[in-house]
Amino acid sequence: MSDKSDSNVDSVGVLHPKVLLLSAGVSGSIIFGYRFYGRYVRRIRTYLDLTPKYLDGNRSLYGRVTRVGDGDNFRFYHTPGGIFMGWGWLRPIPTTRADLKDQTLMIRLCGVDAPERAHFGKPAQPHSEEALQWLTDYVMDRKVRVTPYSIDQYKRVVARAQVWKWTGRKDVSAEMIRNGVGIVYEARTGAEFGDNESWYRKLESRAKKFKRGVWGLKNMTTPGEFKKVHYRGE
Ligand SMILES: *[C@@H]1O[C@H](CO)[C@@H](O)[C@H](O)[C@H]1NC(C)=O
Ligand SMILES: *[C@@H]1O[C@H](CO)[C@@H](O)[C@H](O)[C@H]1NC(C)=O
Ligand SMILES: *[C@@H]1O[C@H](CO)[C@@H](O)[C@H](O)[C@H]1NC(C)=O
Repeated sequence: MSDKSDSNVDSVGVLHPKVLLLSAGVSGSIIFGYRFYGRYVRRIRTYLDLTPKYLDGNRSLYGRVTRVGDGDNFRFYHTPGGIFMGWGWLRPIPTTRADLKDQTLMIRLCGVDAPERAHFGKPAQPHSEEALQWLTDYVMDRKVRVTPYSIDQYKRVVARAQVWKWTGRKDVSAEMIRNGVGIVYEARTGAEFGDNESWYRKLESRAKKFKRGVWGLKNMTTPGEFKKVHYRGE
């Protein structure tokens, strides 16, 4: 009778292998489900959701550009799972500023500096409006892939951004540099280039040679030099 009372527990109280297998299966799927959720379903709403593991340069986030604020940064709405999770058809991507508040990441393009726009009553640098316009035309409302590297002092996510064009996937920083819309970062650490520093520098020397964009200016000042002149100590 004691044998029949609970066939899943043997006489010394050890769990039957089938039960072990079953519970291993259940916890396995919970762990898998949790990992799957963390990786593909959980939405990164603000930079605060970017735990250090997201900043190793090996993880990408897919989403949409909702606003271009400056020549070298934009607002990004993460849409994990893309259309398979219903984004863009079952689940709308907010469009108003109120709805987007606290729902987006500010992405600072890696490797590139755009000319400074007029800020805090300081004059604008030549070509700054062109840079803003170029970036807006290039990425606004588009699907982008973002690879975060770090978070800067302004709580922006320094990242590589890629966008799909009819010629294929394009690295946004590289395209800016190629077209002379922005220049390679001045005096910044290598970590913020991903693996692309030498490529960016090569594109920049070509842009210089062909006097593209800012390189066509008579008296070209880099954004860093410009800041030194106009924003001393700020
Ligand atoms: C990121 O990927 C590279 C190359 O695949 C690898 O060498 C590196 O260890 C990875 N970094 C982390 C933190 O996993
Ligand atoms: C740019 O960086 C990415 C990611 O680190 C790398 O896979 C790619 O090969 C690099 N592109 C070039 C042209 O170096
Ligand atoms: C070039 O630009 C710098 C910095 O804006 C300025 O100080 C300098 O006078 C300019 N030179 C010429 C020739 O315009």
